[in-house]
Amino acid sequence: MEKSSNHSVKIAIVGAGNVGATFAYALLGSGLASQIVLIDANHERAEGEAMDLNHAVPLTHSTRIWAGDYSDCAGAAITFVTAGTAQKPGETRLDLAQRNFAIFQSIIPQIVQQNPDGILLIASNPLDILSYAALKLSGLPANRVIGSGTILDTARFRYLLSQHAGVDPRSVHAFIIGEHGDSEVPVWSLANIAGMALTDYCKMNCEQYDEEAYAKIFEETRDAAYQIIERKGATFYGIGMGLVRIVEAILRGQHTVLSVSTLIHDYYDIDDVYLSLPCIINREGVDKFLRLPLNEIEVAGLQKSAKVLKEMIRTLGL
Ligand SMILES: NC(=O)c1ccc[n+]([C@@H]2O[C@H](COP(=O)([O-])OP(=O)(O)OC[C@H]3O[C@@H](n4cnc5c(N)ncnc54)[C@H](O)[C@@H]3O)[C@@H](O)[C@H]2O)c1
Repeated sequence: MEKSSNHSVKIAIVGAGNVGATFAYALLGSGLASQIVLIDANHERAEGEAMDLNHAVPLTHSTRIWAGDYSDCAGAAITFVTAGTAQKPGETRLDLAQRNFAIFQSIIPQIVQQNPDGILLIASNPLDILSYAALKLSGLPANRVIGSGTILDTARFRYLLSQHAGVDPRSVHAFIIGEHGDSEVPVWSLANIAGMALTDYCKMNCEQYDEEAYAKIFEETRDAAYQIIERKGATFYGIGMGLVRIVEAILRGQHTVLSVSTLIHDYYDIDDVYLSLPCIINREGVDKFLRLPLNEIEVAGLQKSAKVLKEMIRTLGL
């Protein structure tokens, strides 16, 4: 099932800022790509990043890295889009959506014109809205337009749960679903360690199930970006590694389950909106999203998340 050669794998990165450059660096270290092209409205920035990254090449994997333009998207297996800006102080999410949607209207058609056969991977915010916009603007099938979704939120959640339980984060199985943002939903009912629900894990292996501590863990997960941005202005390491994990699952056809943003149909009355659920990722992109048996609170949370996103999609006239 798994193929691991990076023979002639080109990855294009549109937006060579914090997230784009960090992803490029993590991707270089992974050895998954043989060519990485950086494209940015600020070409000098892309050039500087390419120069800096090239100086790491002799110390890691043989990779061709350069600052290019949209014609370089031709033949890319995956074009990653993280162009745009983050929310400015005092700016509403709708303002941000309008600003970054205008950027997408200019760049997505240029990418698809050069590369009608590749996969689009989106990370610009508001993530779910712009992933849906990329689907509409590109005309590509939904399996080939993927939003990074809650891969980052899920990683944050697993990390914080692991600290509380005193186990390796990779031994914690838990998902954040819904919007990549304020209305995201923790799936407590299916969270587990060694196959045990957290309540059982605590009953059998700790002193008690501390409901307050778990509620705090979710709050910290949901608000992590705000906390980090307050301290260092941006977040990029977690998402950089999450993107490499998605790219690996695609290029190696791993059928990995990752929480990414995808087009949802006919699930708890949710239709025609991008949001995150655990998805099977293979060479074609999103093979399918997994229909989780959620409890009533989780269903209500997911439906609320979908409503928030649909309202924004409607306001943007998509
Ligand atoms: N999905 C996630 O989990 C996640 C995590 C962190 C950040 N983000 C989002 O990623 C985006 C980028 O964040 P960042 O910290 O890298 O920002 P940044 O400002 O460092 O980089 C953005 C880059 O986009 C470029 N750009 C702007 N308009 C462009 C255009 N029309 N064409 C090409 N390039 C253009 C800018 O020149 C800049 O280099 C933001 O929307 C941010 O909110 C998402």
